Formats: sequence, C-alpha cells, structure tokens
Amino acid sequence: MLSFEYTAHPARVVFGAGTLTRLRAEVERVGGTRALILTTPELAAVADRAAGVLGPLAVARFDGVATHTPVEVTERALAVAREHGADCLVSIGGGSSTGLGKALADRTGLPQVAVPTTYAGSEMTPVLGETAGGAKTTRSSPAIVPKAVVYDVELTLGLPVALSVTSGVNALAHAVEALYAPQANPVVDTYALRAVALIARALPRIAARPGDLDARADALTGAWLAGMCLGGAGMGLHHKLCHVLGGSFGLPHAETHTVVLPHAMAYNAPAAPDAMRRIAVALGTPDAPTGVYDLVQELGGPTSLATLGLAEADLPAAAARATARPYPNPREVTSAGVHSLLEDAWRGGRPTASATARLTEQVVASFAKAPDQRVADLLGSLVRHLHAYVRENDVTEAEWRTAIDFLTRTGQLCTPTRQEFILLSDTLGVSSVVDVLTNSRTPDTTPSAVLGPFYLDGPPEVAHGADISGGLPGVPLWTDVRITDPDGGPVPGAAVDVWQSNQDGFYDVQLPDLEGPVLRARLRSDEDGRITFWSILPSEYPIPDDGPVGQLLRAAGRHPFRAPHLHFMISAPGFRRLVTQLFVAGGRYLDSDTVFGVKDELIVDFTAHDGPTPDGREIDGEWRSLEFTFHLGASDAR
Ligand code: BEZ
Ligand code: FE
Repeated sequence: MLSFEYTAHPARVVFGAGTLTRLRAEVERVGGTRALILTTPELAAVADRAAGVLGPLAVARFDGVATHTPVEVTERALAVAREHGADCLVSIGGGSSTGLGKALADRTGLPQVAVPTTYAGSEMTPVLGETAGGAKTTRSSPAIVPKAVVYDVELTLGLPVALSVTSGVNALAHAVEALYAPQANPVVDTYALRAVALIARALPRIAARPGDLDARADALTGAWLAGMCLGGAGMGLHHKLCHVLGGSFGLPHAETHTVVLPHAMAYNAPAAPDAMRRIAVALGTPDAPTGVYDLVQELGGPTSLATLGLAEADLPAAAARATARPYPNPREVTSAGVHSLLEDAWRGGRPTASATARLTEQVVASFAKAPDQRVADLLGSLVRHLHAYVRENDVTEAEWRTAIDFLTRTGQLCTPTRQEFILLSDTLGVSSVVDVLTNSRTPDTTPSAVLGPFYLDGPPEVAHGADISGGLPGVPLWTDVRITDPDGGPVPGAAVDVWQSNQDGFYDVQLPDLEGPVLRARLRSDEDGRITFWSILPSEYPIPDDGPVGQLLRAAGRHPFRAPHLHFMISAPGFRRLVTQLFVAGGRYLDSDTVFGVKDELIVDFTAHDGPTPDGREIDGEWRSLEFTFHLGASDAR
C-alpha cells in the first residue's frame, strides 16, 4: 500500500517572458531594501539589467560564484554582504548561483530571491550542497528554500544548445528518480511525469531553434516541476553517482547527469517496472532508459564518462564511493552492479532495452523502409501504440485471444448493407475524431458529423417541396434550408443528399419489405441556394446492436442510441463537400449519442405547428418545420 511523508516547500513563483522587470516588487515583497546580487561574470549583462530594475535597492554585487559551492567562496560573499549591510539576496544564474544564495541564507537568515537561468531546479529544494577540503556535504532545512523565484523565459534564450541539453537532462533526472523514490507520492508523481513529457519534447525543439520561446517556456516549466520533485521525494543511485563523480572526481555537474542517467535507469529498471513504464509513456518511447539515451544522442549530448575526462582506472574507486553510503534506491546497490553500470557509462554504449522494447523497435524498423513515407510513419506509430497498449495493460494471452475473436466476428458480420467495422469505429469515437481533424478546422463553416453506415450513393432526385416519406407514418416535417458560401452568399445548384430513419428508428435498407428507396433523396439548391421538402420527424434509434459492437456496448453498460437527426451531404463545385447532421433540439440522447456525433452548432429547433403549412398542404394536427443555413467552405480550405 502507498505510504509516504511529503512536505511541500512553499516558494512564490513568478513565471513568464520578461519577468525580470518584476524583480524589484519581489525583493520588496520579502522585505528587502538592500539587495546583494550573486552571479557569475558571464551573466554580467543580466546582472546589470537586474540592478537597473532594482535601482537603489541593489547595494552590492558578488560575481565570484563557483561550482559545488566551496565554503571559501561563501565566506568571501558573506564578507561582501556584511560590508554593505545587505538584507536580501538575489541569486542570478544556474545551480551554483542558487547554491551560493542558499549557503548565505543558511548562515544569515536573509531572504533569497532566485532568478534561475538554467534548468538546474535547485531553487525549488531545501537542500544545500557545499564543498570543503575537497569533500561534498549536503544539508537540508526549510530555511534554505528561496522565498521567491522569478522564472524569466527570456533569460534562458541565450543558454547554448549544448548546455540546454545537459541542464535539461539534469532536470529530467530529478523527475525520474522522484518516481521511484521511497517517498514517491501522487503529488510528486504528477509533477514528475509532466516534467518528463515537457522536457523530452522541448529539448529537440530548442536544439532545432534555440530562440523558440514556447519551447524554452516548456523546458523551464519542466525544470521548475522537476525541481519540486527533487525537493519533494528525494534522490536515488543516479544522484549519488553524480555527486561522487562531481565531488570526488571533478566531473562537470550537468554533463555527468546526462551521461549517467540512462545507465542508472537501466540498472534500476528491473526493480521499478511501473515507474519505468510511466516514464516511457511520458517520453513517448517504448523503453525508458534507452529512450533517454536516444534523446541525448540525437541532441548531440555527451554519452560517455570517458569523454568527460574520467580515467578508466578511477572506476573501481568511484564504484566503491557510490556504494559506501548509498541513497535509498529501488534496486539493491551492489559493488559489482554499480561497477558494471559505471563501466557502461564510461564506454557510453546504449543500455540494453527491455525485451519487449527491443521487439517494438524491430517491428517498427521492419516498416521503416516502406517506399511511401506516410505508410512507414503510420505503421510505425501504430505498432508503437499497440505495443505500448499491451505493455501498459499487461494484456494476457486470454485477453488478446478475446480481442482477436471480437475482431474476427466484427469482420464476419460485414456485408454490403451491414458495416460492423464502421460501427466499431463510430462507437469508439474514432470516426468523430477523424471527422473533427479533417472537416472542422474552419470556424465560419458548418461543422460536419459522421457519415454513418446508411448512406447510399445516388439517391433518387426529387423536386422542391416533394414528400420523401413514401407514405410512412410519422409527424410531418417541412425542411427549408439554405446553402451559402462562407460569406453568406447563396450557392445555387448544390447537390443535397438527405437521408433519415423512419419513426421506429429504421433506415429503408434495414427494412427488406419496403419497395425502393424511402426517406432518402437528392435535391438541387435553387438560385437562392434553397431546398425544401417534406418528410417525417426523425426519432432516436439504436444503432444495430445484435453483433459484437452491441456486445461491447452492453459490456460497458452503454446504451446503443443515437440522438434524433437528419443526415445531409452537400456537394457543389468549388466547395468542400459537407457531410453533416441536424439534431432535434430537446431530443433524447443529445448528451450521450452513442457515436459521439452531436455538436452544439448542429442542434436545431424542429418547430411544432398546427396551423396552415408553407405550401398549402392539408395537415390534420401537428406538423414540424426545420429551417437552417449551411455554410460551405472553399474547396481548398483545410
Ligand atoms: C447514422 O446516423 O446513421 C449512424 C451513424 C453511426 C453509426 C450508426 C448509424
Ligand atoms: Fe442516422
């Protein structure tokens, strides 16, 4: 059962593009009147702008920030703070600037406002790591968390691609380890999975266009969330390895994270299958460790510890240190295991994917060379999603046999007048998704709706005012509709096919005793773009539910009904063909149509009358009228 302790570390966050201009307000909010700016010489221009925003509130600047927060540097910065009577710290930069701010805050109690310019995420954690005499120590306290964080996406635009990648993978590592940490919990899981998805998708966009503000915003959001994971659930073997390699072997921080992460994940994968499955889904890859490795490699990031300068001879010592006082980790941390992990990371090969992920890759590859690229893409994606579905749901052999039997029966039921596969697509909502993607991208045209299985090509042509009900019983319905272009001008000569069910909910093709086509016709719009005809009021009806699709609906406790509607297919040269339906306002099942075909714009009054009719037809009792204007799109509109 789930069991955890969770402390949220409240920090005020100001996020956006150009938020540096709000720095003064944030400093004032924490009570600052004399701010010390902590930064590096490389960020002098940003620090100048920050000082400009702060005006008289900026009393001093210390630009000697160093990696791994050496205490000597902290002492020097402390002297500057005292000398200028600083009552507030403003750290500008990556994890090292934030780290110095934390070290000073811890010693002085001064409030810190952090302005991160990388994806390190440490501004969200209560952890301070310092080095003294070559050894790294960490401590944690709520007082260490910055009081406010100003995320200005524009400040990250200048982060070089290589640094964006390594810093981004560093953030990814926070999220990954949080998902299998002993203190993992629903809040942190949510942050972590969102962070993984955001970062994995943002980095390739940043590599392609470093100035892409949206991609930068996604990466910074991911970094913020990942930072909260680090502060909220803790770290495992991966972070331990990086601390050892950075603290004792001098390897660079973010690059080390980038190289080690896929290998640490591969080590932990057998002990954290659920976390890995969720990470893989968030990454959009069949396998989490190789997914991260491939991402780094595609982005040109470092993949081997050897290239980062670690000597092969150092591997045993590094393994020994990493296993000496391990962080909590899902898989037991053994010397042999960590040594082989480090060897793999040192060489930089791709970690071994899980058996099912290898299979997926093989199958995708088998389609990759299809002469038509679209075929390769569609089949590759289908295989990935299908395999992921089987993996995610741990589908059993019996369940898969049931699925195959279901599809077999679906196919066996299909005839020229019974299309069970269309019913399946409709009841799964796929037809409506394809319809929306294909046809409903233009707001000024009438929305489309699914075709359904009851359309017959070439219905009988009838004149305006004709009665297409073939004498079938029902409430008479007078339909008077106009066809226009997107500007409202009439479209004459449009072929308008209409079809509908009888009052019991059956189409003519379902009634073998009926003579010829009934309740279906083709009319041509006149000079005003109009057509008029008589039929009967449509009623709700169940889609055919005596086959596998009906069985599926019953298994899910779903009803098989469609809301009452009239079908239209409108074709005119120069315009996109419109296939749609008009639904009877107030009809049943409008909000639970079994094929998900109802759109608000298509729900129309079928007005009740009992007086004279528009064309003088004699009717005893109630009749209805439907008026509507269809707006067609130009044929080149998407
Ligand atoms: C129809 O409206 O005719 C229909 C649409 C989808 C499935 C079944 C029927
Ligand atoms: Fe229908």
